[in-house]
Amino acid sequence: MRKPIIAGNWKLNKTIAEAEELAAALVADLADVRDTEVIIAPVYTALSRVAEILENSPIQLAAQNCYPQETGAYTGEVSPLMLKDAGCSAVIIGHSERRQLLEETDQLINLKVKKTLETGLLAILCVGETLEERENGEMLEVLTAQIKGSLADLTSDQMADLVIAYEPVWAIGTGKTASNEQAQEAHSFIRGLIQGLFDPETAAACRILYGGSVKPDNVDGLMAQDDIDGALVGGASLKIEDFSRIVRFGQ
Ligand code: PGA
Repeated sequence: MRKPIIAGNWKLNKTIAEAEELAAALVADLADVRDTEVIIAPVYTALSRVAEILENSPIQLAAQNCYPQETGAYTGEVSPLMLKDAGCSAVIIGHSERRQLLEETDQLINLKVKKTLETGLLAILCVGETLEERENGEMLEVLTAQIKGSLADLTSDQMADLVIAYEPVWAIGTGKTASNEQAQEAHSFIRGLIQGLFDPETAAACRILYGGSVKPDNVDGLMAQDDIDGALVGGASLKIEDFSRIVRFGQ
């Protein structure tokens, strides 16, 4: 019922030429994939060129961030409207690197989510606790605050175009993955939160991706969990063999 999504977050990597090369290789390699949605998120400067390469392929294009205004005096920012114009169909919002390095708050993230949905793009909302929060027993509290704050004022109809990525901060780029059980526990908790905020149908339909050191050798176990509907992949999305294997999880 919930179609899996494997999304590659390329972060601050690859020149335009390198991004074109990787995108072309993915188009060739993943041409036969039908049962899983594949999304890639290059840097802003490569988006429109990668969009040309993805045309006529099922791979979708995402941006790694956006600003919650359409146009105006917001120097250095890029709006969902501009991202759509560049060929994007999705936007990653509230990634932990932005929450930490750029001090993004749930309030700002909520505005970005709303503008993204209004523009007709898929919102990939990231949440997740730090190691310190987990060790202090604050994980559920932190996830609750992030989910409630980021999804404030949304309707259940809008939730159809929103995907959640649970990314424990301590597992991002560290090689430490959450165990299958730890990930399932968090995902099931998040689904419960969605049910409380919206309704059982919305919760049952909401896709929740896991992110944090997803690799070819751990993706199968993660994807076998009831509440894990896909993966947001950083480091391994930059290597064609690894990303292809992750997209073909369980085979
Ligand atoms: P990682 O990054 O796979 O390199 O841990 C995941 C992410 O930050 O989305």
